[in-house]
Amino acid sequence: MSTVEVVSALQHTLGPDIVLPGASLAERRHADWSGLSAETPLALLRPRNTAQVSAALAICHRYRQPIVTQGGLTGLAGAACTRATDIALSLERMHAIEEIDPLSATLTAQAGATLESIQQAAAGAGLMFPLDLGARGSCTLGGNLATNAGGNRVIKYGMARDQVLGLEAVLADGSVLDGTHKMIKNNTGYDLRHLLIGSEGTLGVITRAVLRLRSPASEVATAFCGLGDYQAVTRLLSEAQQRLPTGVSAFEVMWPSFLDYMLAHVPGLRAPLDGRHAFYVLLESSSSGNTAQQAEFERFLGDMLESGVIDDAAIAQSRSDAAAFWRLRDATAEFPILMPDLIAFDVSFPIADIGAAALHCDAVLRKTWPASTVLTYGHLGDGNLHLIVQAPDSQGVGQDALAHAVEQCVYGIVSEYRGSVSAEHGIGLKKRDVLGHTRSPAEISAMRAIKAALDPHGILNPGKVLPPV
Ligand code: FAD
Ligand code: LAC
Ligand code: ZN
Repeated sequence: MSTVEVVSALQHTLGPDIVLPGASLAERRHADWSGLSAETPLALLRPRNTAQVSAALAICHRYRQPIVTQGGLTGLAGAACTRATDIALSLERMHAIEEIDPLSATLTAQAGATLESIQQAAAGAGLMFPLDLGARGSCTLGGNLATNAGGNRVIKYGMARDQVLGLEAVLADGSVLDGTHKMIKNNTGYDLRHLLIGSEGTLGVITRAVLRLRSPASEVATAFCGLGDYQAVTRLLSEAQQRLPTGVSAFEVMWPSFLDYMLAHVPGLRAPLDGRHAFYVLLESSSSGNTAQQAEFERFLGDMLESGVIDDAAIAQSRSDAAAFWRLRDATAEFPILMPDLIAFDVSFPIADIGAAALHCDAVLRKTWPASTVLTYGHLGDGNLHLIVQAPDSQGVGQDALAHAVEQCVYGIVSEYRGSVSAEHGIGLKKRDVLGHTRSPAEISAMRAIKAALDPHGILNPGKVLPPV
């Protein structure tokens, strides 16, 4: 059947308000933030409700038509990029916050709601939605769940999947899985919710979710610490986890390469410490209503200074001090402008190995590409390291071949340490061919079997996540 027939079948059932033909999409972006290119799709669908998503998928299923679900297009793995033969499905009109239930501490939202709108709605009800990441203003709940996003507060609250009590999704054939429960405990067979979370649009379209809210963090203590070696970093982490009465809500580590680069290139940033250190840690401890928190936090850092674990620390005395520390960390959003050819990594290792693994990556990259820039930082409390690499193409091999060679180097080291090629951004297209560095052949076969069972014609985000057979 021709592509013209599919588009007209969609238009016939859903109407021109929902189905925009490719020719009308010149102004629209079709690629995410991965740096990979995308083509204008055959058509864009903008449904207003789950029934319309279901009708659209049933038609695509019948016509074997590939369909790519798009959220805010902030993904970093190329998972939402379209080809000219795809139909794009955007949930931008399905952005309602449907309900906040204070007693169950839940928020029910449609998948097109932005993360920020969910955070604000929760705060408006005196509660908190703890998932947080730099793309909060544009990324959507659907995208957060489909990528199982992590972010800055995983150490205390877990990843996107840990915030979900119930989920509604539409399968490839149009059937609707209504799992919008508010229960914390629900051991009734396979947990389809967790199968869909992290599936990057390849198993179903997430349309609504019931999210778990928490008490707001009314007291937040924040410090920017300088440390002399990696052992001190891990010691600070375990001491903070054991001794801070309100625990650790963020433990973000920056290597000097990262901090120096940010201070030199992003206007308005200020170094929180005078001296230079081998490692910098942004440490945060938050609670709801522990008024002694700041004093306890300062006492703890005093002990850490005295016992030589940290060499120096700046303790935020106000929200604006804390925001200034976070601006250094969140300046990563500037990377695409500062380094258009960057090669970015989102890997993870056992926490004990990160210092050595990062050193290893840095040494191999600088030896192979002596004029390269390598910036290192990460959500270290979660074992998650980000590396940003810019290497000059001195041999004229072209940017794609250069990126491939850099990736081979880093993923080889990831395999050596039995780490993961993706801690939080997902596989998409970018890491599809290195999935086998982290997942065994048996695991990949099981993933293929699940994909074939739920999407027998392979219409949902084809070519993403699973390498071609
Ligand atoms: P998109 O990019 O549109 O899509 C991502 C994937 O989800 C695609 O596979 C798409 O098909 C699928 N998808 C989207 N909506 C649905 C749906 N309703 N149903 C099924 N599948 C769907 N990630 C982190 O984990 N931690 C971070 O700290 C972090 N920081 C970031 C900072 C910046 C500045 C940026 C640009 C990105 C960052 N990210 C981070 C990447 C992160 O994955 C995304 O920001 C976000 O989770 C993706 O949401 P989105 O709506 O933009 O999804
Ligand atoms: C960060 C994103 C890129 O942590 O995951 O900055
Ligand atoms: Zn991150």
